[in-house]
Order: sequence, then structure tokens, then C-alpha cells
Amino acid sequence: MRQKLAPPDPSAVVIFGASGDLTHRKLLPALYHLFVEGLLPASFGIVGYARTELNNAQFREMARDSVARFGRTEPQAEPWDEFAKGLYYVPGEFTDEGAMSHLRRHLQDLDRERGTEGRRFYYAATPPAAFPDIVARIGEEGMAERARIVIEKPFGTDLQSARDLGRLLHEVFDESQVFRIDHYLGKETVQNILVFRFANSLFEPLWNRRYVDHVELSVCEDIGIEGRGRFYERTGALRDMVQTHLFQVLSFLTMEPPVAFQPERLRDEKVKVFQAIADVRPEDVVRGQYRGYRDEDGVASDSDVETFAALRLEIDNWRWAGVPFYLRTGKRLSRRVAQAVVEFKDVPHRLFEKEGLGGVERNRLAMRIQPDEGIVLSFTVQAPGLGITLEQAGLDFEYGEAFEGRPLVEAYEALLLEAMHGDHTMFLRQDGLERAWEVLDPAFRDPPPVQEYEPGTWGPAEADAMIAPRRWALL
Ligand code: BG6
Repeated sequence: MRQKLAPPDPSAVVIFGASGDLTHRKLLPALYHLFVEGLLPASFGIVGYARTELNNAQFREMARDSVARFGRTEPQAEPWDEFAKGLYYVPGEFTDEGAMSHLRRHLQDLDRERGTEGRRFYYAATPPAAFPDIVARIGEEGMAERARIVIEKPFGTDLQSARDLGRLLHEVFDESQVFRIDHYLGKETVQNILVFRFANSLFEPLWNRRYVDHVELSVCEDIGIEGRGRFYERTGALRDMVQTHLFQVLSFLTMEPPVAFQPERLRDEKVKVFQAIADVRPEDVVRGQYRGYRDEDGVASDSDVETFAALRLEIDNWRWAGVPFYLRTGKRLSRRVAQAVVEFKDVPHRLFEKEGLGGVERNRLAMRIQPDEGIVLSFTVQAPGLGITLEQAGLDFEYGEAFEGRPLVEAYEALLLEAMHGDHTMFLRQDGLERAWEVLDPAFRDPPPVQEYEPGTWGPAEADAMIAPRRWALL
């Protein structure tokens, strides 16, 4: 975790899919910033591997462009030159045994030239169809020893394929070598859910069915599918966002306190809460599609893939029985905002309302994941003026204000560092992942019809009907 502010052991980093978007936008800038902060191994080499024909110089140029466009800071001359010396590129297909042998020899050269000591840190930044070949070749070339591998979602497309992927990985790697990344778990505001819950005595006593009316988790985006039509047609919002990011955040919101803040103890509690989530009923799911989606490149003209999903879940355990959880996510919505809202129960006796002194609203605790990261607690107060009159007010904590000049860390930076240290705390375990697929399985088998919605709105009206008489906190 963050306390490990030390460089990891010497290692070669291999990025499979090095010419792709994720490498360009996230991985190279994150690796560069770690380097600048002295948090890459003292001896490192970064090898990009992909189909595109590039040489080292072109890859270095591409990396510089990545950092300039997507990094937190401009690439500065001196650290950049030092960093760039450690960048290499090996072109090859993932199926190509010759190219993989070449990669193996290249890594052995790095061990000699740059002192990477035979350690390997693989990052599979490729579409999932490439995973089986990558993993098989690593196995065949004997490159799994002293290695860690990070894989990106989607981890399968349903329970069966997730199990198959797990088996495939375990043929070559031990589970302790595998890091399934969900970048939402690298967001500090998501990690803060754990700190807020378990490092304060004020809220946890209320965090249960006795005091909580319902919980809402919304991850709304204003962007569309950004040219990823073909990927999205195979995926949809339930797989792309709900089964992954929303479920991970939900587990942080609802899990029991772990007995120790250690990777397996924390992951045990996450898995327990996934086990307690009741399988979703198709009638508790709303699927939406923004108008215009079918005209996007790579999208079928009669596509019924959802770009919006809202669902109601229950967690059948001692703490949460009977409390509804409403999850919502979508593209081309009104604005980009992600937040979890815990709405508490009504006061037992409406003392003031009875006398006509104004309405009481339920207390709400909103944890804002992005943007305007922070926490808002809202409550009812006496309004200024003569006589008792009730109005709503709030306590507002904003990261930007409270920690001015100390920006939040980019999720990939935090997660890369943790994986390089071998720390699994913020990574997914196979059993929890499988259960998360199982929960959604009924909705995949019997999907409710997709409802069209206007871009720039909060999605189809059916999502409002689903939560009624309650309302989404964000409107
Ligand atoms: C990705 C999804 O995992 O997360 C994208 O594939 C989505 O569809 C993105 O846009 C959202 O991430 P963030 O960090 O921008 O909220």
C-alpha cells in the first residue's frame, strides 16, 4: 500500500499491447511519473511488445508523446533522457513463437546490461482474445519464473469464461503472481471509502440496516463510446462497468471490517460480501441505449447492447438485509460524476413538521469519487430568523480545498507500484470475480429490453421508475 514509498526490486517490465490506447494514455505516463519520483526499480528496463512495427527510437518517441499529452507533468529533459534509455521495443504477434523467443533473449540481455536480475513484470494491456496466446507463450518460453503478471479487464464475459481464464492463468502462473487490475481501486477516493469507514468511530455504528434507508452508487459519464464500437458491442455497460468498477466500489462500501489491513484479510471480506449479494432479478435491471449509438462505427444498426444500466440489489446478510442498493452507470449522460450516496432513515417522530415548521429531509452522506472529490454530509438545521424554521445544510469536505497543492495520485501509478511490490490488496481475487459474474448471470440470460434515451439526460425514465418512490440523488 501507499506506505511502500520505496522503489521495488530490480525488474524488467514488459508491456504486451504496447502500441495500444491503454499503454499510450495510462501506462507510459504512470511509469514515467514513478521514475521521476524515484519509485521505479533502481535497475529497470521497459520493453514494449506489440504487432505494430516500431524500433526503439520510435517507441521512445511515442512514449514521450504519451507523457506530454496524458501525463501529470511535461517530460523534463534530464529525467526524460534517463527514463528513455530504459525503453525498448520488440515487434511481434502474440501467436509468434519466434518473436517470443526473441523477447526472452532480449530480457536476458537486459539482465546483463541493466541489472534487472531475472525478474519480470508483465502487463497484458491487450484485448482479452490475446491473453491465451500471451500466457501460453510465456509458459513455453519458461518466462514465468520470478514473474508477476497484471491483466486488464474484462476478465471473461460470463461465469464460464471467467473460470476458463482463471484456469488458463493457473496453468502457467501461481495465483500469487497474478494481479487482476480494476483501476477504480486505484482511485484515492475509492480507497478513502475504507479509511472513512474504518478509521473513524462516528459512521460505522450507523452503517447498517437499522439506520440506512438505501444506498445509491452512480458512475455517470458524459462521453460516448469513443470509437470503441467493436469492443463495446461485445461488452455493454453491465460487463464494462457494473460487473467491474461498480461492484468493486460496492464491496468497499458494504464489506465487514477486515481483521487486519492485509491483502488476503481484506480480500476475504470482499469475497464474503459478494457471496451475500443476492443474484440479480432481470426485473430489477434497466438497460438503456443512447440515441445515436447505432450510428457509431463498428456498431450494428439493430444493436441492443446497453450503454446504460441501472439495477437494484440486495445483500442478504446480518448487516444489510432489506436495504436496497441502487446502481447506475451510463454513457452520454448529463455530466461526468461518480458518487456513492448513503441515505439514512427518517427521524422516528416528525416533531417539527407536525407544527408546520418546515420539512425534514433524510440525512445523506455522499462520497464523491470524481470530479470534485470529497464527502458531503447533509442535514437539517434551524434557518436564520425569528422562530423555528427548518432548512437543509451540509458539511462539505473537498480534497482540492483541504489538501491544496497535494493533488490526488493517478490510479494507474498507485496500482502499478503496488503490483510491482507484490501487494495484492487492491487487486481482484478469482473467487470474488467469479461470484460477481454469478450475481449478474440472470440478467445476461434473460436481458430486459433496451430502452432508448436522449444523450445529455440521466438515462431512460424506467431507471427513475425503478427507484421510485425514492429518487436518484443526482438529478
Ligand atoms: C473503463 C471502461 O474501464 O472505465 C470505459 O472500459 C470507461 O468504458 C472508463 O469510460 C471509466 O473510467 P474513469 O476512470 O474515466 O471513470
